[in-house]
Amino acid sequence: MKSDSAVALDELLEQAAAALRKAQHVCVLTGAGISAESGIPTFRDALTGLWANFRAEDLATPEAFERDPKFVWDWYEFRRELIRKAEPNPGHFALAELAGRVPRFTLVTQNVDGLHQRAGSRGVLEYHGNILRDRCCVEQVVADRSEDSRHGLPRCAACGGLLRPDVVWFGEAIPRGPMLAAAEAAESCDVFLSIGTSSLVYPAAGLAESALRAGATVIEVNPNRTDLSRNVNVLLAGPSGELLPRLLEQLR
Ligand code: APR
Repeated sequence: MKSDSAVALDELLEQAAAALRKAQHVCVLTGAGISAESGIPTFRDALTGLWANFRAEDLATPEAFERDPKFVWDWYEFRRELIRKAEPNPGHFALAELAGRVPRFTLVTQNVDGLHQRAGSRGVLEYHGNILRDRCCVEQVVADRSEDSRHGLPRCAACGGLLRPDVVWFGEAIPRGPMLAAAEAAESCDVFLSIGTSSLVYPAAGLAESALRAGATVIEVNPNRTDLSRNVNVLLAGPSGELLPRLLEQLR
């Protein structure tokens, strides 16, 4: 016999599926939580979160990079290794499949790990960039590494300028393309899914709010409550790697 909480979750999954069945446009925002089951630490989980063990201001700001580029690069190389070893999980694959099940689908991610793309998602809006790309600090474009990058800090193959990871650091602007496309999608979608994000970092955290204001059905998938939870229409409280495949199952 199913427990009360299991019955309640089934009902919530059916509510979420019912909204998705009717939807013309589904917009999804993901955060570090969707990659947690792939072995990539989130940022703010109390013990395992990256910011519990490292100071964001020492690693993820232009000032920190100015101060000590080697220290920052060592940390990004450490994260790149983690990401290269990781595999997309059922949560990533479920979203890649959902894209084919609705008329219009927009996937916005705060994650810089590229796991959505490796799971088969196309047209992913990389709101905070991508850790596996290098950007030239002089030309401000994605660049290849010069040969002599091996002896110390990576250098731009075109101009010799210092390279940095192609990610958005605290205090920096969101890339214009993804920012405008995400804002438009949040305002025009019928269903907005907020998955694996603490909804603390703006402007990304404002997307669910603008979807709510525009009258969309907002569904949150997260094992923990967030600042957004009290305002959502459906809260699916659990790991996305388990609940998203079940949601797809419910849609069938
Ligand atoms: N499934 C779904 N959600 C999960 C899971 C899981 N298996 N495990 C943890 N979570 C949730 C946590 O409860 C938390 O609410 O994922 C969320 C992760 O929150 P953060 O660590 O704050 O990550 P995120 O919201 O993506 O951070 C936003 O902050 O540090 C910057 O640029 C960085 O993009 C990042 C931004």
